[in-house]
Amino acid sequence: MRFPTRFLWGAGTSSYQIEGAAAGRGESIWDTFCAVDGNVLGGDDGRIACDHYNRYTDDVRLMSELGLGAYRFSVSWPRVMPDGKRLAPEGLDFYSRLVDELLARGIEPLPTLFHWDLPQALEDEGGWRSRDTAERFAEYAVVVHDALGDRIRQWTTINEPFCSAFLGYGSGVHAPGVREPGTALVAAHHHLLAHGRAVTALRAQARPDQVFALALNFAPALADGGSPAHLEAVRKWNAIHNRFFLDPVLGRGYAEDVLADVAHLDALEPAIKDGDLEVIGAKIDWLGVNFYAPTRVTPIDDPAQPSNAPLPGLRGMNVLPARGPLTAFGWEQTPSSLTDLLQWLHSYCDGLPLVVAENGASFEDKVSPDGHVHDTQRTAYFASHIRAVHDAIESGVDVLGYVAWSLLDNFEWSMGYSQRFGLIHVDFDSLRRTVKDSARFYSEVISRNAVPAG
Ligand code: FCB
Repeated sequence: MRFPTRFLWGAGTSSYQIEGAAAGRGESIWDTFCAVDGNVLGGDDGRIACDHYNRYTDDVRLMSELGLGAYRFSVSWPRVMPDGKRLAPEGLDFYSRLVDELLARGIEPLPTLFHWDLPQALEDEGGWRSRDTAERFAEYAVVVHDALGDRIRQWTTINEPFCSAFLGYGSGVHAPGVREPGTALVAAHHHLLAHGRAVTALRAQARPDQVFALALNFAPALADGGSPAHLEAVRKWNAIHNRFFLDPVLGRGYAEDVLADVAHLDALEPAIKDGDLEVIGAKIDWLGVNFYAPTRVTPIDDPAQPSNAPLPGLRGMNVLPARGPLTAFGWEQTPSSLTDLLQWLHSYCDGLPLVVAENGASFEDKVSPDGHVHDTQRTAYFASHIRAVHDAIESGVDVLGYVAWSLLDNFEWSMGYSQRFGLIHVDFDSLRRTVKDSARFYSEVISRNAVPAG
């Protein structure tokens, strides 16, 4: 199953999850969050993580050995601006060295400007509750682009505003750990505003060949029946989980049904100021699609009853347990959902090019006595999902690339180091890297630009 020529094959990471070297940057909300007992499994944090900051040349060499065409990483705002506002040149310099190293090995850098590690100093001033944070983000984006724009063509503003806003300020399972559904909606709006302001500011100073994107996480709903009530449960989930973010980015504003579903929280509409929706609708060149698993949903009789799902404002439906085979995280493995999602996005976004910006699975990996990691389940996950992408392309969907999550086993947020997603195993005592069998499989896919049929 051959892929188009120039199809981009990559692997992804994010700053807080791998860099470590916490002493060389400002505090982020994840440092604060991790310091509270019970927030993160095992009391872990990202202060050392994979120590990628000090080992990046070795890590880039491994990427090159695997034949990666692209590396998606995130820039740590508190490393570049410890207080969220003033530049620390040595912080920015790390990314400059990383980018040079990647380019020297023929790997395209795909930076994301925000993957959840907000400077704590900005959180102290309101964080994403505050519109000012969107302005600060655009200023920070310009500073990074000024320094690296001569060497980088493709830019992503924000990764998964859903998680940063809804899990950070709604369910509280992510930093900063706030549990206020209305605040979560306001925070989400300000993330979208930050994205739009950054795209506008960067485009104004960009070369004509530079492109701008954002990455959204999609968990398409699958219902346990086909009745109108089931269809309504699907609509509600997709509305708040998926279209909440997508519609405004596409320049369509928030959809009527989305506004109606969250109206009882009386939070979103007061936060929308004149001109915001035009800013948020700034044209993007491709959409990053992060996909791991679908969500099973079912209606509940009382439409006003709150959902068991921690989505702000969601009522009248529940999430059902995932169906096996599951990953170590308990996530379902349903590759056909990825094909369906890409096809739906292709039509819903009027043919906007798509990049699968994250896809992968955690399993309990061990280094065997033979020195290898025989992660056959991950290989099967990648194979089936890459085939699913191929099916979408065959049906006419414009997919530019596929980015495996993750390059390295890393700090998996509130799950600490318990969930290994890497193509490369990391021993968190010695920090030794071991290339897993799944990475060798992926490397073959890349070199043939094709995946074996299932
Ligand atoms: C995504 C995140 C990424 C990682 C994977 C497993 O939601 O963007 O950082 O945690 O899930």
